[in-house]
Amino acid sequence: LLLGRVFSGIQPTGVPHLGNYLGALGNWVSLQNQYSSVLYSIVDLHSITQPQDPKLLRTNILDMVASLLACGIDPRRAVLFQQSQVSEHAELSWILGCLTSMPRLRHLPQWKSKQKNEGSVGLYTYPVLQAADILLYKSTHVPVGEDQVQHLELAQDLARIFNHRFGDLFPEPRALLSSTRKIKSLREPSAKMSKSDPQTMATVFLTDSPDDVALKIRRSVTDFTSEVTFDPENRPGVSNLVSIHAAMATISVEEAVSQATGLDTGAYKQLVTEAVVQRLTPIRLQVERLRSDPAHLEHVLAQGASRARELAAPVLEEVKQRVGF
Ligand code: ADP
Ligand code: NA
Repeated sequence: LLLGRVFSGIQPTGVPHLGNYLGALGNWVSLQNQYSSVLYSIVDLHSITQPQDPKLLRTNILDMVASLLACGIDPRRAVLFQQSQVSEHAELSWILGCLTSMPRLRHLPQWKSKQKNEGSVGLYTYPVLQAADILLYKSTHVPVGEDQVQHLELAQDLARIFNHRFGDLFPEPRALLSSTRKIKSLREPSAKMSKSDPQTMATVFLTDSPDDVALKIRRSVTDFTSEVTFDPENRPGVSNLVSIHAAMATISVEEAVSQATGLDTGAYKQLVTEAVVQRLTPIRLQVERLRSDPAHLEHVLAQGASRARELAAPVLEEVKQRVGF
């Protein structure tokens, strides 16, 4: 086992899609077997930075626990918990916020990409909360997508600023960049697959039925060349299918293309569908089983929160003393 502490969070946005699975969650499952200490948080405090429906949020939290467990997150290997159940996150966030200048946050992606000066204070400062999430456990490694690198840099800065002002306490957390290619929208292969894509048929969710998967892949946008090649630049649609096929069948892109020899894109779509359905079926069935027992999911969260609090409390205590409380 590698020494170090891994922390990562995911917003409770319901059942994850194929992009979340291949870009993040699959890696989370591997990391829990590689590092001696691993924490995964369902970051519900982050999800109220934009308007949300309370009932839906509750459902989404439980759906996310069910999905993470079904993907292979093992609560014996990883501390799996709901952020709002560990109040130390909010407390440390306040303290770190007082070490952060306004301009430092203005150019970060959370603000630039969203509602342009119309958003809540929470949306503006949520990279500080992210920094608190990470530093609260003295985390050393943070699996992130490229879109989150600037936010991680803020966490690194805040570790340095705190250490400089109050004495060494926080290690500087390092990024574990996901090496997998971004999965694209099935309808618009220049954009990434996303849960918030308004187009139906563009996003495959982990709980999609085999028929839904088949239909979405059959309708996916390709081009007028029928041969299957891997050329993301010029043939983004077909290449996205090859990426999905390779990742779901755990084979190389070259192997995926060679399996497509002699198939036109229509026939290849069936092969891709089979690879996706084969990989997703056990996950879908497990999500359904777990969803039918919310009490069990609540129990998993309660246990996770109590283990997270055991780690967080002494760190926050130390921070408070250093600050002069
Ligand atoms: P979304 O808004 O589409 O659900 P998020 O921005 O919440 O995605 O990202 C959650 C995690 O999933 C992040 O680690 C992100 O890098 C990863 N992710 C999201 N979409 C994709 C994608 N299309 N391909 C690969 N990884 C993705
Ligand atoms: Na997003």
